[in-house]
Amino acid sequence: MDDRFVAERYRNRSVGLTLDTQALSRYGDVINLSIGDTDFTTDTRIIDGARTDACAGYTHYGDPKGDPELIEAVCRAWQEDQGEAIPSDQVLVTASSCLGMALTMMAILNPGDEVLIFSPYFTMYREQVELAGGRAVIVPTYAHEGYAIREDRIRAAITPRTRAMIFNNPNNPTGMAYGEDTLALLASIAQEYDLVVAADDIYTFYFFEGSYRPIRCLPGMAQRTVTLNSFSKNYLMTGWRVGYVIAPPAIIQTMNAINGALCYSTPSVSQRAALHALSLRQELRQTYGQLYRQRVSYSAQRIQEIPYLDLCVPRGTFYLFPSVQKTGLSSAEFCARLLEEAHILVTPGSVFGAEGEGHFRIACTVGQEVLREAFDRMERLKF
Ligand SMILES: Cc1ncc(COP(=O)(O)O)c(C=O)c1O
Repeated sequence: MDDRFVAERYRNRSVGLTLDTQALSRYGDVINLSIGDTDFTTDTRIIDGARTDACAGYTHYGDPKGDPELIEAVCRAWQEDQGEAIPSDQVLVTASSCLGMALTMMAILNPGDEVLIFSPYFTMYREQVELAGGRAVIVPTYAHEGYAIREDRIRAAITPRTRAMIFNNPNNPTGMAYGEDTLALLASIAQEYDLVVAADDIYTFYFFEGSYRPIRCLPGMAQRTVTLNSFSKNYLMTGWRVGYVIAPPAIIQTMNAINGALCYSTPSVSQRAALHALSLRQELRQTYGQLYRQRVSYSAQRIQEIPYLDLCVPRGTFYLFPSVQKTGLSSAEFCARLLEEAHILVTPGSVFGAEGEGHFRIACTVGQEVLREAFDRMERLKF
């Protein structure tokens, strides 16, 4: 391939996530547990509401900061759910939380600044940090410690160049949900070292114990937290590409200016859909939170009965991250055998950083009957 017109930094480097489409067509009966996208179509009331609004003229550029009605609704929902009043100049609507995180990094990093990332981590973080000229510094967490975020490991990773940390709660891929103790630890370290916390709070309807507590709401944190939220997972709206960021005004203004150069504004019709979605949030949280919890709990029980797997039981999201160490295979080898011998497609843990090696990710984004069939097939395998 002639790549002489490609920027040097991207040569010989794979960027982004790739779906193994060949694997899907290799066998007629592949069960695909690799998709981090909900299997439900967006609620028809949201689609119908957006369609009506599009017909009424919401087909133009909008306010770059976001549809004022949506921003007002975000502030109202935050006040109702978190008890905190946020002024509208602390909200920016973004075309997805992927873009929101990239904008955050571009807004806060100087060249060479370091960002702490707890591993295993959502694959895109490293790219988002590096695109902004920063350096990703990995802080490991391990299944045998319940993916605990440990103070000694954070302190060992901090240098004078550390600028921020990315904290994803609950976590993709491990399914770990962190409580008050971890939030307090991160908040105190962020304050001690004057760091920004980029809080990726996009799976907040999927906490299995207790409920969502934003790190932003801890004392002293509002002025140093960028809260990233998205309609993708909570509202089953991945394809609409809409989310929002809550952050101090100076960061919002900077992100808005950068966003102007990248895409000017978030699609108007998606923002209208988001507005309708917010009005249904209690119902959707209840319905889908419970549904995914049941699937994860069923899957966890089945995995625990399979002798060659180990599992740190998830406390949130719709993912499970079993260990394959007992098989003696690497993540990639195990996933290849699972595909060849059981026709099940999953994601190798190594995609989520070095600490993910020895694991694979199951996304419970298929119905329970399909999950049952997948675990029946896994149970028949011998290693
Ligand atoms: C932890 C995490 N953050 C961000 C994203 C991206 O979400 P969005 O659709 O809002 O870009 C994902 C998607 O899988 C994710 O798992």
